[in-house]
Amino acid sequence: MRTPPLWGIGLAESVNPGVGFLHDGRARTLQEAILWNGGEAEIARERYTHLSAEERNALLAFLQSL
Ligand code: HEM
Repeated sequence: MRTPPLWGIGLAESVNPGVGFLHDGRARTLQEAILWNGGEAEIARERYTHLSAEERNALLAFLQSL
């Protein structure tokens, strides 16, 4: 399994409508993909859950801008 680069992820929907995230496409949204990060990403996932709604939206907007 190859970890997909986040670069260009904001274009995923327009390039491939209905695309899922993670290696098997099971995450329908970026938020699902973040929450389903595990292993070494556990701390990042945990921190995401403690962000305010505003901070989460800022992070999602950043990902969409890549
Ligand atoms: C706030 C921090 C993070 C965000 C926003 C984030 C976001 C994402 C997203 C959106 C994906 C799906 C990419 C795609 O399908 O094209 C992904 C996958 C992945 N991330 Fe993260 N991630 C974070 C932190 C981390 C960290 C710290 C690690 C490891 C040290 C990590 C390891 C991975 C791996 C291995 C995958 C692929 C998993 C799979 O396909 O099942 N992530 N991440």
